[in-house]
Amino acid sequence: MEENKDIYILGIESSCDDTSAAVLRNGVLLSNVTASQAVHEAYGGVVPELASRAHQQNIVPVVDQALKRAGIVKEQLSAVAFTRGPGLMGSLLVGVSFAKGFARALGIPMIDVNHLQGHVLAHFIKENDEDKDQPQFPFLCLLVSGGNSQIILVKAYNDMEVLGQTIDDAAGEAIDKCSKVMGLGYPGGPIIDKLARQGNPQAYHFARPQIEGYNYSFSGLKTSFLYSLRDWLKEDPDFIEHHKEDLAASLEFTIVDILMKKLRKAAKDTGIRQVAVAGGVSANNGLRNAFQEHARKYGWKIFIPKFGYTTDNAAMIGITGYFKYLDKDFCDIDLPAYSRVTLK
Ligand code: KG4
Repeated sequence: MEENKDIYILGIESSCDDTSAAVLRNGVLLSNVTASQAVHEAYGGVVPELASRAHQQNIVPVVDQALKRAGIVKEQLSAVAFTRGPGLMGSLLVGVSFAKGFARALGIPMIDVNHLQGHVLAHFIKENDEDKDQPQFPFLCLLVSGGNSQIILVKAYNDMEVLGQTIDDAAGEAIDKCSKVMGLGYPGGPIIDKLARQGNPQAYHFARPQIEGYNYSFSGLKTSFLYSLRDWLKEDPDFIEHHKEDLAASLEFTIVDILMKKLRKAAKDTGIRQVAVAGGVSANNGLRNAFQEHARKYGWKIFIPKFGYTTDNAAMIGITGYFKYLDKDFCDIDLPAYSRVTLK
């Protein structure tokens, strides 16, 4: 009987520099395997062509491992879900092409997943049947990554409205660029995070944007950071080395403060008290602390993802694929990848 059959979804993620595959059974995660690409570190950022080539090398072994760790054979799969976009076109094409070929060879449906929707639905990843602490609809989600900074009103799995977003740089991008200016490694997020724990967040003040509504802007802050540093370096050529902890703490404090201010406004205006955070920057200690503080102060029920589900991963694509599978929301084989696509 169709209804009693277990639903096995293979999720595939290849939008940037992580090749990831996950297997879920009835919405519960069985495996999540990710190959990250160290090749970009030497360049201070992701090099699209190198990313694409690395995905080609990684995709087959990563999928193979995901199936083995899940303890299933490919013939048991019910559908293949894949990231369609947004992301780097060359990277996306590897995952999209693989998913299409794999699904067609097995004669099973394909499910296209919006990467941003995946980040939001990462809060519904269950590692076992007892895992139940998940947001109720509607909730707000602050999505902060290297490419996005958005406040999303999540009305249902398949109904999300972007209330506000950055009009220029994303928060993660700003952190990475400031870290690069300081001569620190790539990606800057984790490095700034570590340094900031030992610094004074009030040591320096940088420009804050004055933007209407729920939108963000981080390019002014980045310029202010750059110009301030240039002036300080004139007086002390070793300024960065002497003050890197305070610089990191002040930068992180400013970015977290900007992010939380608009989120507070959205929570106040909508009256919604369930607030989630998602995306790579949600790994940040300062941002996690700010969420805890808001939970205490404003009575928010907060949802912070496990570290493994903050950055790009296939488990979030798999769970989104599972919900779309239940809706029979499949796609055709001629569906193209999209480098740019919003939630709505
Ligand atoms: O979601 P993600 O893995 O990729 C996309 O951009 O889609 O996010 C990557 C971003 C990078 O900018 C990285 O520096 C930032 O997340 N990041 C962090 C931390 N870990 C990663 N930013 C601040 N603190 C962290 N601990």
